[in-house]
Amino acid sequence: MTQHRYLLTEDRIPERWYNIAADLPTPMPPPLAPDGSPISPDMLSAIFPMELIMQEVSQDRFIPIPDPVREMLALWRPTPLYRAVNWEKALGTNCRIFYKYEGVSPAGSHKPNTSVPQAYYNAQAGVKRLSTETGAGQWGSSLSMACQLFGIECKVYMVRVSYDSKPYRRLMMETWGGECVASPSMDTNSGRAILEKDPNSTGSLGVAISEAVEDAATRDDTNYSLGSVLNHVLLHQTVIGQEAIEQMKMAGAEPDVVIGCAGGGSNFAGISFPFLAEKFAGKEIRVLAAEPAACPTLTRGHYGYDFGDVAGLTPLLPMHTLGHSFMPAAIHAGGLRYHGMAPLVSHLVNTGLVEARAYHQGECFAAAINFSRTEGIIPAPESSHAIRAVEQEVEQAREEGVSRTILFNLSGHGNFDMAAYEAYLSGQMTDYELPQSELDEAAAELQGMPAVGG
Ligand SMILES: Cc1ncc(COP(=O)(O)O)c(C=O)c1O
Repeated sequence: MTQHRYLLTEDRIPERWYNIAADLPTPMPPPLAPDGSPISPDMLSAIFPMELIMQEVSQDRFIPIPDPVREMLALWRPTPLYRAVNWEKALGTNCRIFYKYEGVSPAGSHKPNTSVPQAYYNAQAGVKRLSTETGAGQWGSSLSMACQLFGIECKVYMVRVSYDSKPYRRLMMETWGGECVASPSMDTNSGRAILEKDPNSTGSLGVAISEAVEDAATRDDTNYSLGSVLNHVLLHQTVIGQEAIEQMKMAGAEPDVVIGCAGGGSNFAGISFPFLAEKFAGKEIRVLAAEPAACPTLTRGHYGYDFGDVAGLTPLLPMHTLGHSFMPAAIHAGGLRYHGMAPLVSHLVNTGLVEARAYHQGECFAAAINFSRTEGIIPAPESSHAIRAVEQEVEQAREEGVSRTILFNLSGHGNFDMAAYEAYLSGQMTDYELPQSELDEAAAELQGMPAVGG
């Protein structure tokens, strides 16, 4: 029997994170204060511990992972890498498809790779409580677990549409000792303002971020924690790609294409940044981000400065954005419903080092079901976008008459997303055609924002 699962022993958990900022061929535009002036690390210290702020602005290529963090990561890392032989057969392809599986973490996704170090650094700094937002609930549950592991409290603002459709995610947070409220909530000024305008608001990540930032900024004992987008979050996720490089070596293969789904960009960065380091060093590797057509930040968004949240409480970030008040349709991939994108990922797309494609949810679920029927694992709705992108790569290779080696990140399992699968299987799932007028409306608010490089 041939083995198609590549496992690393515990001592192979990476000892350092890879900081792509050190290797970028062109420098990143800086974040700006809400009034457009330069931002200093000090300004962030109201809501973040200094260690994370230093990581956010670091230009060091490698940053050591503290031992207590590696010990916690060892609860589930290193994660397995598989070759999808059964799926390859079903697709009738001569391409080789590999996937790194992040769903083996206790929360079921890649998110604990950063919730653990974030909770650790905050606990070290004497912070007693963290506030955060969550879309599908993966991040909120991951942070609740990590806070519990390091003995601090956790308050989660969960986007209303997911709060209603994914009750088990809320219960996971509560099981791990976190407190979870539906966002918009009555607990913050930002939440109350939205509810006043629209009492039936289904919420968005942008709204939930405003609530969580306000919570942290108005309480002395509380810091804010973000599950994606920021440089330090992407940095923490690079354990994924570093392990994958070793495992691909074990498999005797090198990827021609590396694929991840992108909501705020963190799992995509995690799998791809270590491979991009190889690309910078001369290897031929294509890197592809897959996003939802209903929230097409990278493929149809504007590249410029925008707020990370609806209320305009965050710094201005240089990124692809649909406008900070853009309300994405209630697609099932809750973790991909974000108006912006990680500045690092945006910069890489803008400079042509990373490609992006958008897919409708129906085609993604069809792909995820084919995958689950051959490989067993039921993918998270977010991850299904990467799976659809792999199918398209396979088709393209067939048309060109070539064989490629494809690696993708299976960012999480969908075991708590069965309502989404039910919608698909019962024929109730619809695709959302986002009209240009809706994008134009949301983008109008970007006029007057500083231009990147301007
Ligand atoms: C399983 C899974 N994949 C992907 C994402 C998207 O986030 P990011 O782009 O930061 O990886 C999420 C977000 O909640 C998620 O839960």
